[in-house]
Order: sequence, then structure tokens, then C-alpha cells
Amino acid sequence: MRKFLIAFVINAISFFVAIILSRSLVHAHGPMSNAGVKPVLADLTALKALQIPTLYTDEKLNIGFAYLTPAMEEQLHQSSHILGKCGSFESLENMQDISVMQVQGMLSDLQAVHSKNLQYMIAPFASVRVQAKPEITEAITQVSEDELRNWVTWLSQFPSRYNKAAQPNNHVIALKEKLDNLVQTAPYPVQVDLISHRSTPQKSIRVHIEGKSKPNEIVVIGGHLDSISGWGGSGKAPGADDNASGSANVLEALRIVLTKAQPERSIEFFWYAGEESGLLGSAEIADTYKQQKKDVVGVLQLDMTLFPGEGEFVIGNVQDFTSAWLRDYFVAMNEQYLKVRLVNDECGYGCSDHASWYRKGFPTVLPFEATTRTMNKNIHTPQDLITNQSSFRHSAVFSKIAVVFALDLGNSDLRQPY
Ligand code: BES
Ligand code: ZN
Repeated sequence: MRKFLIAFVINAISFFVAIILSRSLVHAHGPMSNAGVKPVLADLTALKALQIPTLYTDEKLNIGFAYLTPAMEEQLHQSSHILGKCGSFESLENMQDISVMQVQGMLSDLQAVHSKNLQYMIAPFASVRVQAKPEITEAITQVSEDELRNWVTWLSQFPSRYNKAAQPNNHVIALKEKLDNLVQTAPYPVQVDLISHRSTPQKSIRVHIEGKSKPNEIVVIGGHLDSISGWGGSGKAPGADDNASGSANVLEALRIVLTKAQPERSIEFFWYAGEESGLLGSAEIADTYKQQKKDVVGVLQLDMTLFPGEGEFVIGNVQDFTSAWLRDYFVAMNEQYLKVRLVNDECGYGCSDHASWYRKGFPTVLPFEATTRTMNKNIHTPQDLITNQSSFRHSAVFSKIAVVFALDLGNSDLRQPY
């Protein structure tokens, strides 16, 4: 009790100092991030458990609006150890001088998306049907554990992939070069782009396969490429599981998809920047797509796939901030193609980039390596390496999910009915 009281008092003092500091610096120097203090939407359970003061809370969504000092951000990053769950947040540092009213507006948009999903869950919609196609059953056999191991080894050799590292784009540029070579083999034109961001100098990467008959309908498959470790993110950050593994899954799925016929819908593969600093890359991308009225029919997020905490072939199916319809599609495709055990779980607001898309109203799904209770506890440390507990056989399932997503959803008329 005494410990909590002390933590509360320290947090309260640093919060008010931070607010005063950030207010004066905002006007003098621009964005809040200059003061090292940032406005965020965060998982309310984590905020409460860490005694971080909130300016606005939505108990129904379990989200709080708070200003984080670097120390609080660090506490949230470490919270999986302290709380046994993630202390997820989405940074709003791009929105200078954001008001509580703006936050209320954002959360009521989110509530509207939520309500539609809840409505779907109780309404008598026809169930999602997926019929196995022989060419897709064959395609998923091509997923190679060796390829996955090579990618994870290569990505985790960079000292850090942190978005605030001195050279935040070394690995991004190196991967872009590899992707430029890879797409040369495709029998149709494929575009590889670096995406710049306002909130971070780190860039995201996108590979665009143009749909043959429905180029405006887009299937998104992605994972975050950045990593983090140590106080202020300054340490060695191999991020093998978090998230070289999901990034490798996306790369391996792309390799296989490129050997197949051009899909009817467009397929986009993403490696996002700055997820660990609050979903920075994906938030800007989802915002742009929403503004451009892009028709994204589904977003598959892959984040941590290498540590089979519940046993091999037991996969978490994250229920919060994901689309009820796309989760149904995932269950149906699993029955036809993968036949792994799915366990429903929750990971809190903003635990990964799917939250950026979800908040903008796009359908999302997040298959996960285990349950959050049994997930890899070495993430965000220099020990997030390939170990004898890593399983590429387990991780391969996630590339198969991505291949089915691309070749089945990418060649169908299925879409969220709400
Ligand atoms: N991969 C992790 C966490 C995660 C846990 C993803 C469960 C999916 C399911 C992710 O990179 C991460 O560290 N997220 C942070 C939030 C982020 C905005 C700092 C977290 O959840 O604590
Ligand atoms: Zn992480």
C-alpha cells in the first residue's frame, strides 16, 4: 500500500511538472514530443495499475487519455513484467495541443465502430463461409521454416531497430533493397515504397500488388519492423520475437504470393515504423487511407509469432479492437486450411498496429503466438533472441494465415457486412 502511495505521489508530481513543461515548450518549439512528454490513448487497466493520472477516461472502452513522461512510458513498456499484461498505448503526439473535447470525439468514433461490431455479434447475419481451394492448400505447403529463420536472424542482427535510434532507417533501407530484388521475379508489376512520417524520421515500407479486376479493394497484411529495449529504448534491441517474427511472416507470405496468379483485389504488405513508440507509422497510414476513402476490406496484423507459450499450434485470437466479422472469417479459414487451436484472448487498447486501423473503421484481425498470460516475457530486452524455446514450426502457421488471407480474401467478394 505504502509503495503504491509513493508511486502515486511521484507520478502525480511528475505529471504536473510535465504538463507545465510541455505547455510552455509546445508554444515555443512546436510538438509535445519536444518536451519528451506525449499525449496518449492508453489501456485504462494499465494506467490505473501504474497510478498514471488521466485527463479523461472511457470505462466502457477501457481507454484513458493521459500525458506520459518518459518515466511513465518506460513503466508502461515494462508493464508486462509488472502486471502480467501489456500497457498498450497509442501516441497522439502528432496532434499538437489536443483538447479533451477532441479526445472525446475520437473515443465516440471508436465507440461507434465498437457498437457495430457488437451488433454483428448478436444479429442473425449469415455465417462466413470459406471453401478450401486446392491451389491455396498447395500454396501454404510452400511456407519455409528455413526462410523464416533466415529473416529473423538477419533482422535481429541489427543492434536496434528503434525509431529513435541514431540510425533509425539502416534496417529499413537494407530491407527495401531486398524487396526491390524480390519483386523483380513477379510476372506482373509490383510497387515497393518507403513511406515517410510526420511523427518519426523512421520510414515504413509498403509493397503494393495491383488487383486485376478490383484494384480499389485492398487486403492489408502487415507487422511492425521496429524494436525497442532498455531505458528510453537506448539498449541493444534484437527484437527476434517482437517483431522480427511477424515481419518475417509477412516477407515469406509475399515470396509465395508473388509466384501465383495476379489476385483480383489489391494486396498490400506493410512493415510499419515506430510501433513501439505508440503505433506511429500505422496511425499515419490508416489516417491517410481513411482520408483518401480507400476501400480496405481487411487488415491482418502479425506481431509476435515465435514463442509458443500455450504449446505449438495453439494460437491466440485477439478479441478486443478487432472486427467480429474478420475474426469469424479467420475461424472459418482456419477450419478449412490450418486446423490449429484458437484461443480467444484480449491484449488491451493499442497493443499493436491493428488498433490504428480499427480506430479508423477498417476490419482487423490479430492472431498471436499464445495468450498474453503465456507470451514471451523477454520482449523489449536484449534477450529477445532466437532461443531453444523459439519455434519456427509454430511461426510458420502465421505465414500460412497470411497466404490464405492474400489468396482467398484477395480473390473473393467477401466483405464486412456493416
Ligand atoms: N508485440 C508487442 C505486444 C503485443 C502483445 C502485441 C500482445 C500483440 C499482442 C507490441 O510491440 C508492444 O510492445 N506493444 C506495447 C504497446 C506499444 C504501443 C508500446 C504494449 O502492448 O505494451
Ligand atoms: Zn513490443
